Amino acid sequence: MIDLENASPPTTLDLARCPACSSALAGARACPRCGFVAAVNDGILESIGPLEGRSAIAAAFYDGPGWARFRPWEQGFLWLQGGVRKARREILRHLDAMPGERPLVLEVGIGDGENLRILDPRFRVHGVDLARTRLTACLANHPAQSNRLAWAEAEQLPYADGVFDACYTIGGFNYFRDHAAALREMKRVVKPEAPVIVADERPNLHQFGLGHLIGQPALDAWWLEKLGLDAPFVEMVLSLDLDLPDLFCQVWPRAVRHSIWHGLGYCYTDRQTD
Ligand SMILES: C[S@@+](CC[C@H](N)C(=O)[O-])C[C@H]1O[C@@H](n2cnc3c(N)ncnc32)[C@H](O)[C@@H]1O
Repeated sequence: MIDLENASPPTTLDLARCPACSSALAGARACPRCGFVAAVNDGILESIGPLEGRSAIAAAFYDGPGWARFRPWEQGFLWLQGGVRKARREILRHLDAMPGERPLVLEVGIGDGENLRILDPRFRVHGVDLARTRLTACLANHPAQSNRLAWAEAEQLPYADGVFDACYTIGGFNYFRDHAAALREMKRVVKPEAPVIVADERPNLHQFGLGHLIGQPALDAWWLEKLGLDAPFVEMVLSLDLDLPDLFCQVWPRAVRHSIWHGLGYCYTDRQTD
């Protein structure tokens, strides 16, 4: 039994489960059941396997030089929505009514930790990302996140069942390797009835690019690469086939869809708190 009400805030190991036998680690590095020893380096739990498909492409991009070149465009997009803070609040507001003095919250795909600047300071936030360099950047920006970060895939979260009071993901979902698996994992690691949130830009946004509109999709591939996306990521963007209504109907049938960012993005919430 994990005691989450004790005075010191829980670390990743307090919340983690053994990747070998799924038993709760309950704070130990060595699994009390099978002896598997978890790797923790520089305050980050390392629970990542060989990456495949979209995960391999995403990790290469977010760990590589393209992300730094693309970042200003992402910030510009959010700024056009009325400012970065307002754009993020459109999503994070769904957590405002969470009860409890110190809710324990998980961000999947935490990146550099930009949302931590905006979240209610009473939240104790943990984060997962598949790009190791993003976790290092997150720690540099927010040293208090030491021992609250995990290098892992959304599709295989390294936590025990039902440990978080909420879980959300912003800006990475469209290109998750296995969307249904990630949604199931988000539900698994939260308490029953806890809020879960998924937000991103509309997956078909590229179809409004000039190249697509004039029947020359290669033109859109060209300018997306100019913005900083590498060729495999661009191909992934242009070939994405993600039917969100069907996916959520099957995996989170009670979820509610909110339009965000002037219709350019979506936010699905389940077990809403507002
Ligand atoms: C656009 S960034 C958004 C970062 C942060 N959530 C924010 O709002 O600023 C997307 C992040 O999701 C991570 N990511 C993408 N696919 C992932 C997956 N399958 N599992 C975990 N993280 C993933 C990327 O490495 C990247 O850091």
